[in-house]
Amino acid sequence: MGNKLVGYGAYLPSRIMTNADFERIMDTTDDWIVTRTGIRERHIARDDETVVDMATIAAQRALENANITIDDIDMVIVATTTPELDFPSVGVQVLGRLGATKSQPAFDVRGACTGYIYALHTARAFFTAGIHKRIMIIGAEKMSRFIDWTDRSTAVLFGDGAGALIFEHSTSSYSGIIDTVVMADGDGYEMLHGTENHKIIMNGPETYKRAVMSMPHAARYIMEHAGITADNVDWIIPHQANLRIIESCAARLDFPLDKILVTVDKHANTSGASGVLALAYGFESGMIRHGQLILYPAFGSGLTWGAALIRV
Ligand code: UT7
Repeated sequence: MGNKLVGYGAYLPSRIMTNADFERIMDTTDDWIVTRTGIRERHIARDDETVVDMATIAAQRALENANITIDDIDMVIVATTTPELDFPSVGVQVLGRLGATKSQPAFDVRGACTGYIYALHTARAFFTAGIHKRIMIIGAEKMSRFIDWTDRSTAVLFGDGAGALIFEHSTSSYSGIIDTVVMADGDGYEMLHGTENHKIIMNGPETYKRAVMSMPHAARYIMEHAGITADNVDWIIPHQANLRIIESCAARLDFPLDKILVTVDKHANTSGASGVLALAYGFESGMIRHGQLILYPAFGSGLTWGAALIRV
């Protein structure tokens, strides 16, 4: 059984922090940040604004976009690495906020920056098994909770936000989530991880090297499996961590730059929300149109990496 995309929604906190704002609080420059990362600004949540708040708004917008209510959803899967509470899951809290009454299941997946691909992979499995009819995927992160405001090497890289996508079962096997692949390497844990006191530890250059190998690897796997080439794909939306990584992946995959959707300049790295937010942004800005084929590679802490092929 196949599936199709029927709704999308996004939420970005209203507070925008520019590179100039960082120049005022640490030893950095707009020039360094733009040259090394492509990031110009990021949205930072209010202190009292939680991952559940952001996820709920994105979910509500996706429901409005699909013209359905939360009780039309059979399952909610949330990709997040930054929940305020260890339990219950963000997914269950979103159900509560939206007033769900059908006892539908909800849970979180923790795949860091690859989290939304892990969520898509999980949803595809449920559609293939024919168990659920309508699944909502949410990516929501408050990365600012983990920012060490004294560490210029990581503080400038991250942003907050949430995105939501709704998929519905369909008889077509060539729409919605067509294919997914997810991978992990536990030996890479030290390269990029969060600490118990909520700090990000990252070996930037080593992480960079793995990112530019892993995303093309997963993207190539998906294209070979689907029997397609770059010519068949309308957009590639790589995980939005660094513009140089994105451009390097595009070059390795022989994708022209005009097929690459870039949001890292405006949103920075929103980890598990990145690809979902980028897709919603692509629709809202009119760049992405229904029917287009999207290749979706991601890479993150774990190490984890993967890719999805989606016809929207
Ligand atoms: O989303 C999950 C995956 N994450 C990623 O994919 C991130 C991968 N890594 C990267 O994107 C890049 O490695 C960074 C953007 C994090 C860093 O760029 P880089 O070109 O690898 O720089 P670097 O870490 O080698 O640092 C170069 C210099 C250092 O100074 P020295 O030792 O050469 O004097 C740093 O101290 O840049 C310095 N530096 C900064 N300077 C100004 C580091 N951060 C800053 C900063 N402003 N914010």
